[in-house]
Amino acid sequence: MDKESQISAQNDTIGFPISFQELREVHILYTCAIREICAKLENLSQEFELYNDRNPIQHIKHRLKTPESIRNKMMRKQIPLEFGMMQREILDIAGVRVICSYVEDIYKISRLLIRQDDISLIKKKDYIVSPKPNGYRSYHITVGIPVYLSKETKVVPVEIQMRTLAMDFWASLEHQLRYKPEMEISDSVRQRLTSLAGDMFKADVEIQQIYQEIVYAASSSSAHSRAVIPLDNTPA
Ligand code: GTP
Ligand code: MG
Repeated sequence: MDKESQISAQNDTIGFPISFQELREVHILYTCAIREICAKLENLSQEFELYNDRNPIQHIKHRLKTPESIRNKMMRKQIPLEFGMMQREILDIAGVRVICSYVEDIYKISRLLIRQDDISLIKKKDYIVSPKPNGYRSYHITVGIPVYLSKETKVVPVEIQMRTLAMDFWASLEHQLRYKPEMEISDSVRQRLTSLAGDMFKADVEIQQIYQEIVYAASSSSAHSRAVIPLDNTPA
């Protein structure tokens, strides 16, 4: 395929004027931003593990929004289909999902990340303190991170969703159910899902209390106990 055809093929996919070169640049830029964020999270997790003998992060997933999905979102939000508008308005092209062991780990890790000099907080949504009406719980932050290129530095937005295993279990399955096209979800099923989200949160609170009791019992009974990084639930 020659360059002109490549450009027009990409234009067909994304639905607005963007050159093949621009598309490749965007891809590289947001991939670099994801890599930087993941490295920072892994560094924090490793240090935390050194002092606390456990890993606060169970796993990290990431994704780049597809051109189709970017276009659909812009159309849904009635954002003019222009390259500049995409960069300004679509803040979740780069997405990172962090699955934590306990609720308190979410706040601890996010606070430590946000206070780093090169990170700027663009947006924060605490769906743990204020869950969505359907029961969805998660902690969302959108941060700006500099990506150092050969000729310039660009600050790239990355949406980070932080959840416990229980929150992720619920959100992943609820997402699957919601997008089953052949299935109409009845009000009673909706209510059961919302109530289940509440039960999952009770499990999160209970397991965190159990963990804290075990840690404090162990540290007070051990003369040689190591310093445990104090944790709290104060949102970042
Ligand atoms: P957008 O610009 O539409 O992304 O709005 P927003 O950034 O204000 O959205 P929000 O922070 O509420 O949600 C962003 C992402 O969170 C979604 O793309 C989903 O991944 C996730 N999310 C939000 N609400 C739900 C929900 O009810 N169920 C599930 N499973 N995921 C959700
Ligand atoms: Mg979003």
